[in-house]
Amino acid sequence: MELKEAILGRRSIRKFKDAKVDKELIIKILDAAKWAPSAGNLQPWEVIIVENDHTKKLIAEAALGQYWLTKAPIVLIVCANLDRTGWYYGERGRTLYAIQDTAAFIQNILLLVHDHGLGACWVGAFDEEIVREILEIPRNCRPVAIIPIGIPDEKPSPPSRRPLEMFVHHEKFKEGFKLESIKRGYSEHGV
Ligand SMILES: Cc1cc2nc3c(=O)[nH]c(=O)nc-3n(C[C@H](O)[C@H](O)[C@H](O)COP(=O)(O)O)c2cc1C
Repeated sequence: MELKEAILGRRSIRKFKDAKVDKELIIKILDAAKWAPSAGNLQPWEVIIVENDHTKKLIAEAALGQYWLTKAPIVLIVCANLDRTGWYYGERGRTLYAIQDTAAFIQNILLLVHDHGLGACWVGAFDEEIVREILEIPRNCRPVAIIPIGIPDEKPSPPSRRPLEMFVHHEKFKEGFKLESIKRGYSEHGV
């Protein structure tokens, strides 16, 4: 799949077929996702692979009752290891870089999942302390995302995106970019 096709075609999938997903494929996906950029190449992500139904139910409860995720054959919990980045970059590393690096890793997972014809969703609404307790996550790690993965049983239409004029600025934050130059840049770059 072309990169642009993957970026534009990926959707959050919340309905899954009652079918297994090859764990080896998930391992391959994680092995590719690890090529995400990270501050100082410290790669602060940690991943817990959950297949146990009871654990999934507890996680769904911790995710404010998002029980749809229990239907996914595999649920990943991606954590940021704050100490890994913090020991080198201090407070900025702990509070910003470790989370940014982990987010880049998560986006790679979502795109690779889509590229393999599977579906996933970034679930961020959950009680961190409860998830920490269920999965015995140590204090130096912060759970960043729950990612249910399965074979899609829905084809959601793309939710709208803000137009470029609303978030692209020129030279200074308050100066908007002229629509014409945006359109020119858009076609010049062949997007
Ligand atoms: C940080 C973050 C947290 C999110 N949390 C949830 C969530 O708890 N539950 C959910 O169903 N979707 C969640 N989403 C998915 C968004 O709702 C979804 O990405 C957005 O509506 C755009 O749709 P799309 O992913 O299909 O393009 C989250 C996405 C992000 C990036």
